[in-house]
Amino acid sequence: MANIIRQRNGLTEPAQTDFDLRIEQTIRPKQLEDYIGQSQLKETIRISLDAAKQRSEPLDHILLYGPPGLGKTTMALVLAAEMEADIHITSAPALERPRDIVGLLMALKPGSIIFIDEIHRLNKVTEEILYPAMEDFALDRTLGKGHMTKTLRVPLPKFTLIGATTKAGSISSPLRDRFGIVYRLNFYTIEELVQIVMRSATILNIQITGEGAEAIARRSRGTPRIANRLLRRVRDYVQVRRGPEEGIEVSSAEEALDLFEIDRMGLDPTDRLLLSKIIESFGGGPVGIETLAAAIGEDIRTIEDIYEPFLMQAGMLQRTPRGRMVTPKAYQHIFPGVTPPQSSALQQSLPLEPLS
Ligand code: ADE
Repeated sequence: MANIIRQRNGLTEPAQTDFDLRIEQTIRPKQLEDYIGQSQLKETIRISLDAAKQRSEPLDHILLYGPPGLGKTTMALVLAAEMEADIHITSAPALERPRDIVGLLMALKPGSIIFIDEIHRLNKVTEEILYPAMEDFALDRTLGKGHMTKTLRVPLPKFTLIGATTKAGSISSPLRDRFGIVYRLNFYTIEELVQIVMRSATILNIQITGEGAEAIARRSRGTPRIANRLLRRVRDYVQVRRGPEEGIEVSSAEEALDLFEIDRMGLDPTDRLLLSKIIESFGGGPVGIETLAAAIGEDIRTIEDIYEPFLMQAGMLQRTPRGRMVTPKAYQHIFPGVTPPQSSALQQSLPLEPLS
């Protein structure tokens, strides 16, 4: 049985409580076959898994990147279960001192997996300890001081490093080059999210119709973690407002989601504030990220990592060299039926037909 060793530092999943984590663990798929979506990644990984198992070797090092909540940790746990390997879960901010990474490497057993979240945030010293560890399964230890310094090479068991990041572009190239498999996780389709909601509902013993699951899926920003969270919040709403025996139907799901201020595109109040601020205060853009962050009182990293990827994927926001701009689709969503002002940057990218 695979062993999960989780190093907690509170930064990895800031919005989650221990209770959330426990429920997430219950509904997480345990095998690759149960993992819904990311079909190309699954196909590639299946081949690597079977090949590694046939040769009785560990998997190649794997880098997974993409927006938060798309299942990078889940995939790492599935791989550990498939390889029947121990997995050490940590994140770059927890590996601040050299002894943090050295301690982790010294605790490895043959075939162990290390999962490092937010790997783009590793410091240089830690990265440099990792290079020989990843490449030669060795730890270079420096002994002595000054001109008496000696380097001792300590062999390590063969292991697999799985790195996860929301920012592939911020990883140094020497580190990126040491991963044998680099894969981007994509946002999920509505159909995939419906399957995830139905599967989680079954595990959590929640009654839900197909249409109810679709209503939740549509407002989940292409993200399983959000779909699962909304499922539980809608369940609470239905239990309290409709009765403990009631299942989730499309009408109750939509009522609940409206109450939670998650609109039909899956936008939450912060998404809408961000778009309306660009429109109302900056003529539709372009506006620099620092100015925008200050204007809406949000952290730059949160905007870049959480809000922008979905708004860009939804075709509502563009990143340009001069800053962020909203699209006509965003304008129509935020101010339905209103024509954008003449002088705005929006006008340049407007469709020719009049807005209805
Ligand atoms: N729960 C969260 N992500 C999932 C996925 N990709 N497949 C199945 N269940 C999930």
